[in-house]
This record gives sequence, C-alpha cells and structure tokens, in this order.
Amino acid sequence: MSARQDWIAGSGAPLRGRVRVPGDKSVSHRAVMLGALAQGVTRVTGFLEGEDTRATARVFQQLGVRIDTPSVSERIVHGVGLHGLRASAAALDCGNAGTGMRLLAGALAGQGFDSVLIGDESLSRRPMRRVTEPLAAMGARIDSMEGGLPPLRIHGSRALQGIEYTLPVASAQVKSALLLAGLYAQGETVVREPHPTRDYTERMLAAFGWPIDYAPGYARLSGGHTLRATEVAVPADFSSAAFFLVAASVIPGSDLTLEAVGMNPRRTGLLQALRLMGADIDETEAREQGGEPVADLRVRHAPLRGIAVPEALVPDMIDEFPALFVAAACAQGTTTVSGAAELRVKESDRIATMAQGLRALGATIDERPDGAAILGGAALHGGTADSHGDHRIAMSLAVAAQLADGDVHITDVSNVATSFPGFDALARDAGLALRMAQ
Ligand code: S3P
Repeated sequence: MSARQDWIAGSGAPLRGRVRVPGDKSVSHRAVMLGALAQGVTRVTGFLEGEDTRATARVFQQLGVRIDTPSVSERIVHGVGLHGLRASAAALDCGNAGTGMRLLAGALAGQGFDSVLIGDESLSRRPMRRVTEPLAAMGARIDSMEGGLPPLRIHGSRALQGIEYTLPVASAQVKSALLLAGLYAQGETVVREPHPTRDYTERMLAAFGWPIDYAPGYARLSGGHTLRATEVAVPADFSSAAFFLVAASVIPGSDLTLEAVGMNPRRTGLLQALRLMGADIDETEAREQGGEPVADLRVRHAPLRGIAVPEALVPDMIDEFPALFVAAACAQGTTTVSGAAELRVKESDRIATMAQGLRALGATIDERPDGAAILGGAALHGGTADSHGDHRIAMSLAVAAQLADGDVHITDVSNVATSFPGFDALARDAGLALRMAQ
C-alpha cells in the first residue's frame, strides 16, 4: 500500500467538458483470472491500473503465469490452462480486494497444491465464511482465522463436487467463487441468488468458450471443459463514473459528459435512483464494447429531491451508496435507504463511515442497521472528515466538499488508487477543487 495521504477539498467550479474514467474493476479482475486459466494468449485492453487489479495480476504471476504489460492499461496474459498453475511458496497478497480474495478462493480450491491468501488491514476484517462454507460443501478444505476472517489457507488436491446453492445474500463475489470452483468440480454447479447480481463471470466464461447456462439470478455450469483465450475490451467503470454523475448533478452550472461508461444493467442502479431524484442525465452513443453495453452519459446540474431508494435497486448500486448519500445530503427532503446491510461489510462499514463523514460537514443522517435516513438540504461547512481508508468514501467526501463553505480535510485517501488511480487529477481537470494536503 502507498504512504498515507490526505486531501484538502473545497468549493469547486461547475464541472465541464468530457471525462473518461478508468476501466472496470470487476471486469479487469476476471479478465486476468480467466485469461490465466485459459489455453492461449488473452489480450486485455482498458485494464484498470488500480492496486486491486494489479494485485490479482501479481498473484497469477506468482502462480507461474506470464503477464506482459506492453502499454498502460493493456495486459497480455499467457494462459497456462485449467491445470497449469504452479504452487507459490509465498503467500498470495490480494491487497484491499475482496473480489480478488473471494474469486481466488474458488479458483484455488480446485488446484493440486496449497495456497495462502492474505490481504491488507481492511480485507483482513472482511467475512469469508460466505465463500468458505459453500466451497467446503463442494469438498474444498479452507482454513481461516477466528470468525472466518483472512488469511485463508486453501488445501489443494481435493476432489470437488458440484453443488446446487442458493446464496443467503446477493453477492456476485460468492456466486463467482462457486462458479470458478465449479470449473474443477465433478458434475453440475448451480447457483441461485435472492436478487440478481452482476453477471460478468457468467458472460466472460461464455466468451472464453465454457458452456454455461445463465439468466438473472441463476447460473449453471459443469466441470471438465476448456477455457479458450480471447480478447477482452474492458469498459469504463460505472462505479468510478458515479462520483462525477453526483458531482455534476449537485454543483450548479455543471454540464459534463462521461465517455464510454459500462452500462451493464446490474451496475447502473444509481442512474435510476438519481433520475428518481430529478437528475438530468442523458445516455447517448449507446453501443457494445467487448460484449458489454456502453454509452456516453451527459449530466447537467438539476435540483434533486429526496426519495425512498427502492430496495430492488440495492444490488444494482451496491458500490454507489457512498455517492448516493452525498446526492441525498444535497437534495431537498429526506432520502431513505433500507435493505442495504451489506454496506456494513464493504471496505469499511459504509453506513457508519458516510454518516460520520457527512455529519462532520453539517449533514443530518440517521443510521439504521440496514441503511439510513438522510435529511437533505443543510448548508455544508468545512471541517475534517475521515475516509477510514475506504476509496469510495474518500471520493464521495471529495464531492460533498465541493458544496461546503470552507476547506474540508479528508484523511487517509491513499486507497483511492485501489479502484481509481488518478482520480484527483481527473477531478481537478473537470472542475473539482481538490489537492493533496502537505
Ligand atoms: C464485485 C461484487 C460486489 C461489489 C464489489 C465487486 C465483483 O461485491 O461490491 O466491489 O466484482 O463481483 P459483492 O458481490 O460481495 O456484493
């Protein structure tokens, strides 16, 4: 992890022009993983040069996969096939990435060797039983620390058996871990979800030639096939675009276009929520890129009003609640969020950290176990707000700070590089007032 850094953010200018945010984190992780397990050479373009996805690439290099970087945001993955990975004597460091660790747990459960997965302080506090328990039901043996926490020691040479599993919580990470283990299992693996989650693993397995049957909330595959290398064009990450969608919506005079944003419907719940709040966002140039829908999004300032966020949207905007909280704090009236208890086990407890951060700037928020009520419209003031090392909290607070009448000191922001390297420079170019604290 890079050295600890803080930001000073203040009242910025209207957001103008065109911005292209970096590649999608979820797609980048999966492109490296499937590329590594495929036969042949996979070229990945638009790869996210973030700490999380680079950690995943490093893990596969440690496992004997050659991965070249001919240019920034490009990777050439020399696949070793499903059974070509080699044991690593050293632990495999997933950094800050829950996606990396959980998906790797699934893929490594089927190997002929043992592995140890470790992570940073935040990842070391995140629940892993949600993957280790169903993987154990498939025959895997994974030891964790007390409470099911990382590090995970994954014992190899286990004969895996397909299962039918209904996820207790909607989680693309758990679903994906089981599907990746299912590649190595005897028989069929069937995963059902209480609410559909992002389907990149399913789409990408199909693109790599693995027979898979899937529909929203359902996926089924069987073991014993082959992944064949392909090209992966990673779209821009909707979750990174989200900060700009909110910033341009709440900062008067803004008119900003975000280019080539990934528009997978399992990711764009925030767009629907913002529109319900009165946001002015146009989709133009809708097209396909590497099998994923993308569009340009033109967002203009508009007065927002509070809403009850429909619970059905929660999985489709699970990473966007920190940004949504900022929109809610700037809206007229109250916004309520419920059915979102998962926010408590993300990179930080995002209900608590956002409530604390926005309160430090003068907003009124009532925390609930599975969400919050945010009373919008209060004038925000300067102060100190702690991101708790959570990238999305840091970027959301930087957006909120634009409406404050004094400087906001945002602490512990270095993890922004996990998902959005260069956020501060791009944000400044667009009009945000944001700089490193000395
Ligand atoms: C992700 C799934 C989500 C999301 C995370 C990335 C993925 O987590 O919060 O940032 O790439 O599968 P859960 O599936 O655990 O909700």
